[in-house]
This record gives sequence, C-alpha cells and structure tokens, in this order.
Amino acid sequence: MRRRLAAGNWKMHGLATDLTEADALARAHPAPTVEVLLCPPATLISRMADVLARTPLSVGGQDCHAAASGAHTGDTSAAMLVDAGATHVILGHSERRADHGETSAQVAAKTAAAHDAGLVAVVCLGETEVERDAGQTLAVVSEQLRQSLPGSATAGNTVIAYEPVWAIGTGRTPTLEQIAEVHDHLRSLLPDHEMRLLYGGSVKPANAAEIFAITNVDGALVGGASLKAADFGEIIAALEAADGGTS
Ligand code: 13P
Repeated sequence: MRRRLAAGNWKMHGLATDLTEADALARAHPAPTVEVLLCPPATLISRMADVLARTPLSVGGQDCHAAASGAHTGDTSAAMLVDAGATHVILGHSERRADHGETSAQVAAKTAAAHDAGLVAVVCLGETEVERDAGQTLAVVSEQLRQSLPGSATAGNTVIAYEPVWAIGTGRTPTLEQIAEVHDHLRSLLPDHEMRLLYGGSVKPANAAEIFAITNVDGALVGGASLKAADFGEIIAALEAADGGTS
C-alpha cells in the first residue's frame, strides 16, 4: 500500500513569525493517518525542524545542489539540508526549471545527490499550457520522468509530483479526467509500483476531496494553501478521509 502524502511547499514565503502556522498545524493534527510534510524556505528549515520535533510532521527543503560541497555561492547541499533537520527535498519544481533554467538532467543529478545524503526527493514535472494545447502533455511528462530520475530512485527515496505549470498559483485545475489520464500514464511508467505520485496545482480545501478520490493520486503538493494551518489542515483531513482514516 502506498502511504498517502500531503506535502506543503511554502516557496519564497515565510519569516520566523510564520512558524506559528507550523506549530498550529502540528497541534491540530497530532496523529495524522497520512504522511505530512512541510517545505519552508531554506532559512526556516532548522527552526521549523525544532518546532516539529516530537511530532509526526516532517520538514523538507525546496532545492539542493548536485555536488556534495564546493565553491557554489548561495547554494545548499543535500547534506546541509539533512544537517538542518530536513528529511525530504523538492527537486525540479517548474519554478526552478523556469527561473533557473534547470534541465531534467540536472534534476536527476540533484536527485542522486539527495539520495546519497539520505533524503527523500519529491521530483516535480508537468506540462506548460502551450504543450497541453498542442496535445503534447503525455509525451512531455513521460520524457521529463525518464530524464529526471537517476538509477538510484526507489519507492522509498522518491516521490513524483505531477504539477501542470498552468495550474500552479492560478486557481485553475485540470479536469478530474485530465488528472486521471496523466496519473494513469505516469504510473504505468514508474520504475516501482509502490512509488508515490502526487498531484499539485491550485489544490485547495474546496477541491481536495474530489482530487484525492482519483485512482493513482497518492496525495498532493500544495503551494498557497499550505501557508495557513487551517487550509492545509482541511486538505490533510480530506486526504485522511480518502484514505479511509479519520480526521
Ligand atoms: P499552488 O498550490 O499555489 O498552485 O502551488 C502548487 C505548487 O507549485 C506546489 O509545489
């Protein structure tokens, strides 16, 4: 059985004062029946790990360098994330692919580095609106999957997140049929049947339940709605309900 995962990506949001949201989330969900992960900006990883110590909630980074160490000003190694208290790292997010020109080959190298350091990598992929309109969605995500996963990827150390670029931060989501189509396709390509496959892109309390009811959706990677404990808590509860657990 694949353990369902609710992952929050705070992106470049959050100061120390916002750790109250992580604390509130942990207090409201002391024993979630699904896995819960929060990925704050690098500056907050250590302090969030302190806040969430002795809770079942995990902390992750949003990127790491492919090298173990070296002259890479401004970058963070996978071992540094571990040192700060992270157990996971988001890699290949479309915002990094767009803002920093990250290629799938670089994402694979970063993912291998994350594995070497003992991190679980949440590897992101997804088509642009132009690619979807051109009927290229399945071809694009297949190729991204093939190129972004290193040989070290297993169900234990890797989670895939399908995030259509045009659905991120826009309030627009694919139809349930479109999500199902991509997830069914990706699942058929995954190297391990136990590898988890998340959906991401404008997941909110209002649409979480219907998205989590889709076969082959093992959870969500949530941006904006993960910043507030109340909203993310509702999404966690929807995932627990879909899982047959209690909230
Ligand atoms: P939103 O949930 O804000 O659309 O962001 C999705 C995302 O990019 C998560 O990584």
